[in-house]
Parts: sequence; structure tokens; C-alpha cells
Amino acid sequence: MCGIVGYVGTKKATPILINGLLSLEYRGYDSAGIATIENKKIIVKKDKGRVNNLYNLDGINNLNGTIGIAHTRWATHGKPSKENSHPHMDNSQNFAVVHNGIIENYRKLKDFLISKGYSFLSETDTEVIPNLIDYYFKNGVHIHEDKFLSSVKLAVGDLEGSYAIEVISPLFPDEIIVVRKNSPLVVGKANGENFVASDIPAILSYTKNFYLLDDNEFGVVSKDNIKFFDNNLKQYEKNLKNIEWDASSAEKEGFEDFMLKEIFEQPNSIRETIGSRFSLGKPCVFDDLDISKEYLSSINKIYIVACGTAMYAGLAGKTVLEKLCKIPVTVDIASEFRYRNPLIDDKTLCIYISQSGETADTIAALKLAKLNGAKTIAISNVIGSSITREADYSIYTHAGPEIAVASTKAYTSQIVLLSILAMHFAELLGSCPLNEIENLKSDILDLPSKVQTILDDTTKIQDFAKQVYTQKDMFFLGRGTDYAVALEGSLKLKEISYIHSEAYAAGELKHGPIALIENNVVVIGIITDEKLVEKSISNLQEVITRGAKTLVITNQNIPNSHFDFVINIPKTDSVISPVLSVIPLQLLAYYISKNKGLDVDKPRNLAKSVTVE
Ligand code: G6P
Repeated sequence: MCGIVGYVGTKKATPILINGLLSLEYRGYDSAGIATIENKKIIVKKDKGRVNNLYNLDGINNLNGTIGIAHTRWATHGKPSKENSHPHMDNSQNFAVVHNGIIENYRKLKDFLISKGYSFLSETDTEVIPNLIDYYFKNGVHIHEDKFLSSVKLAVGDLEGSYAIEVISPLFPDEIIVVRKNSPLVVGKANGENFVASDIPAILSYTKNFYLLDDNEFGVVSKDNIKFFDNNLKQYEKNLKNIEWDASSAEKEGFEDFMLKEIFEQPNSIRETIGSRFSLGKPCVFDDLDISKEYLSSINKIYIVACGTAMYAGLAGKTVLEKLCKIPVTVDIASEFRYRNPLIDDKTLCIYISQSGETADTIAALKLAKLNGAKTIAISNVIGSSITREADYSIYTHAGPEIAVASTKAYTSQIVLLSILAMHFAELLGSCPLNEIENLKSDILDLPSKVQTILDDTTKIQDFAKQVYTQKDMFFLGRGTDYAVALEGSLKLKEISYIHSEAYAAGELKHGPIALIENNVVVIGIITDEKLVEKSISNLQEVITRGAKTLVITNQNIPNSHFDFVINIPKTDSVISPVLSVIPLQLLAYYISKNKGLDVDKPRNLAKSVTVE
């Protein structure tokens, strides 16, 4: 994620840039910065913290430059700090760059630049970009008469990964150069001034006319002119689009709510979580973990500790860890774990999951394990968050900022990351046949497109939501990982629709809850494990006999006629099936809440991050 803004015109750039960043804070908010050009020099003002802090930086209000670039950061490489904030400059301060995305081969490029005498001030991947531009500016074989554009093009040619980039230079004080690949970037056109942003809302109050940049397209943006070039720097015309959004819907990229946007982001957030951690035929890579085969062979149990949705992701992760690593895993609620003297010693590995990394109980539970000699791993979505500063090791989901209180994309990314971690441990331990791990890898790589298939048609779920949104109670049933996802589906429903709901292991139904089933009570069954199909169908049959209205989410061939509604989802390994089966459950909770006219993103009494006990 991260948000970027650019301005070139006749007005002071700084207030326009900061104003733009403020409306992009939903893309990231751990540090911010701007760069402008004054007296033939680049001036950079940046710091850790939210965009508003920029107003307090020394001298920022006196900047008169009428060209500038700006950035609000969501850390991926390097903790949130002043040094790691954007913009970054090259060593001779000829080029300033802001960047959204991840440069996957930055280590190699950094080594190359160091060998050419360049030095680095930050831990970021981004800092290689201005230095590469400078390198090519001085040493490149230029392919265009605009040496600035040509140097950017040569530098970008070396980058692997994703990027939206803006560059300014005092040697070319009237131009912003922009380019993108797999990361959004728009150019806004106005009269005698032009704008750039990673997203439309940042500049919607200045113009409604936009060019939407495509991958590998370059833009040269000056006060009165916007020129576009293809990857060979051949100039061409682009169509201007008129966008009549209001600012708040634009932030949500046209989605009505952040929750819906985040549900639909899941193909991409899962892709980001997988990142370059593995590919087929190659072992998993966890540079950020120093866990050896000897250590793993010495432990006798794993605890997964978390709260809310993160804890339910842990329940799904338990199955895959136990199956692949043959180590017993206990999943615990952080607020319980911390007060019940859990049996922990140096033979215990404790994994803590927290999207925000700020949940008080989860942090306290982690400190307790450390005191008792256990190794701790934090799984978080927020780089530099409190929990990652306490843990022995931290690994990140990279799902991008999650704004809606009800967690969706963080949950699927947590399960994916736990599964990759389990494969890594199993590869070290040799605890699982390699062909089984290979099959799971292939299934994980297919998850983004399978999630997309579910998202492509939501009509059945919307129909069902319309029929049941006035209900007072609902039940979710499943066995194995389907039970884990039933718990998450039930939590989603409670959180945003305020309907009472319970999730039960389907086999447990007869031991009490079945007494609550009467005419028209809604029961949602999840059936994805081939071995348990018949048993799960029998359990649902028991509630149908008692008048229940049923919805079944399944990837198996089941007799549709038995049930009121059936939602078919793609097949995958049952240990990761919650990543797919949760999608209809998230959508169901969402559409029920909408039918009731509730505030989906900010449900009553709930907070996104619970920093108190
Ligand atoms: C709150 C949120 C939940 C979240 C839980 C744990 O209750 O409303 O959505 O699952 O905290 O948050 P964490 O940031 O630790 O994952």
C-alpha cells in the first residue's frame, strides 16, 4: 500500500500535497513526507507518524516551491522512522523519489550500487531507485533526448516487483516523471496546474479530469503539459476520463464500504502474503526467521495465541501445522492464556497473531511466554507495531491496511501465512513427504484466482441475505476446518448485523444446541472435507427435520435438493479451505448488515484495535 501525491503549477505545492496525503491515509499512515524544489535544490521534509505531523515540521510552512511529490507510508522494508520515510534522494541530491509497492530485487541492486560507490541512509527498498536514476543519468546510454525521462526509464528497467513512482529533479525543475507497474497511479489535469496521485480521492477536490496510467507507461507532467510514453519511450496520446465521484466513495474505490472493498481485495492481498516466500519445486523462504531444524526437533508443543478473528485464523492454522509438522498445537485466547499459568518452557514455541499488532492481551501473553523461556513469533499486518517489537521474530501478512472494524482480508492472509510457515517447518523437519508439500504449494498459489471466482458472482448470497436478515438467531455448523470457519462466519455475523449466532462442531449438535432448532431457524453448514461429507449431511438432516432453513457452502457433490440454498465454491486442500469458504460467510454478514441499514464499517461497541484489557 502507501499513498503518493504530486503537484506542479503556480501555487505553493506543500499545502496541496499535505491535503492530498490526508485523504490517502487509509492506504498507510506510519510516516509521511514531501519534497519540493527551491533555489535549484531539493528540500525534503519527512518524519515518522501520521500525515498531520507534517504541519509541525520545522520550516515546512515557509516552503514556496510550486512543484512537489509526497508520500504516506505503510512500512514494508524497514521500520517506520524518519530515515525510512519517503521521499528518498540519491547521493548527489539530484533526484527525489516517492514509491508505492515493493522492489523484490532491491538487495541485488543495492549491492551493485554500493560497488559503484553509492551509500544508503535507509533500510528501504525504495532508496535504490533515486540512486539508480543518478547512476544511469551519469553512465547510461540514453534512448531519449529528455535525459531525465531516459534515466528513469533505464533505472525502472532494472526493477522487479511492483511500483508507482514519482521523481523530481532540480536539474529539470518543471517536470514530475511518473511510471507504474502493478500499483495504481493517476494523473489529474487542470488549468495551468497538474496533479499526480496513487488514488483519485487525493486530488478530487482540484480536478475531475484524469488519465489512468497503465503498467509500464511513463508520464512527464509539467504545469501546462502532460506527455505519455510507452515502454520504448515512444510518445502517444491517452484518453482523458471525467470522474464524477464524491471524495468519500473514491477513497473506497467505488465500493460502498471499506469492508466490501477489503473482501474484494482478497485475491490481491493473498498474493501479497505469498509474495516471494515460495515457488513450486523450491523450499519456502523465511529470511526473517532464525529457526533451525535442531530447534524445531527439540520442541514438544506449539501455542497459537490471539484474539477475535486472529484467534480463529489460528484454529485453521493448527490443522495445517499438526498435519505437516506432527507437533501438537494448542490455540488459545490471549486474555485466558495470560492468566492461567500455561505450561511453557524452552521446549515451547509460541506464535502470536495480531492484525494490528497492538492488541493488549496478545502483547501481554507474548511477554509471559518470553519470561518463561519460550521462543516467540509474531504474525502481524503492521510493520513496527508493538507486538513485533516484543517478539523474537516477526513475519508479516502484507495484506495492506485494513480499515473496516470487522476483519476480512487479514484473516485469509493469516491462514495463508500460517500454512506457508507450516510448510517451511515441515521442510526443515522432514516431517511430511515432499510431494504432499508440493501439492499444497500448488493449491496455495491457486487461491487468489479461486477467491476471485467466488467474488465474481455474489447474487445467490445477496438473495439469501434478503430472505434472512430479519432473523433473531442463526447457527453455523462444520467439522474440522469447517468448524474453524463456522466460528469466524458466526463472529462476522454478530459483529456487523447484531444477529445472535452460534457456531458448533456439527457432531456436537445433539449434545444440547439441537434443542434450539425450530421452524425457520437459519442453519448454515460448511462442508469441504471429503472424508466428512456424509456425517455433515446427516447433521444437517437432523435440523431440516426440525424445520430449519438451510444454506450449505460446499466444494463437494452434495444433493442440492436437500437444502434451501447451496453455494458451490472451488475445491482445494481441506487444510486451507477456510480461505475459500469464509468468503461467502463474509459476504453474507455484509449483505445482511446492509439489508438492516447498519453502519458496516463501524459497528456499535467495537473497536478495530483493542489496546486495553
Ligand atoms: C478486535 C477487532 C477484531 C480483531 C481483534 C483482534 O476485537 O474488532 O476484528 O479480530 O480485535 O485484533 P488484532 O489486531 O490483534 O488482530
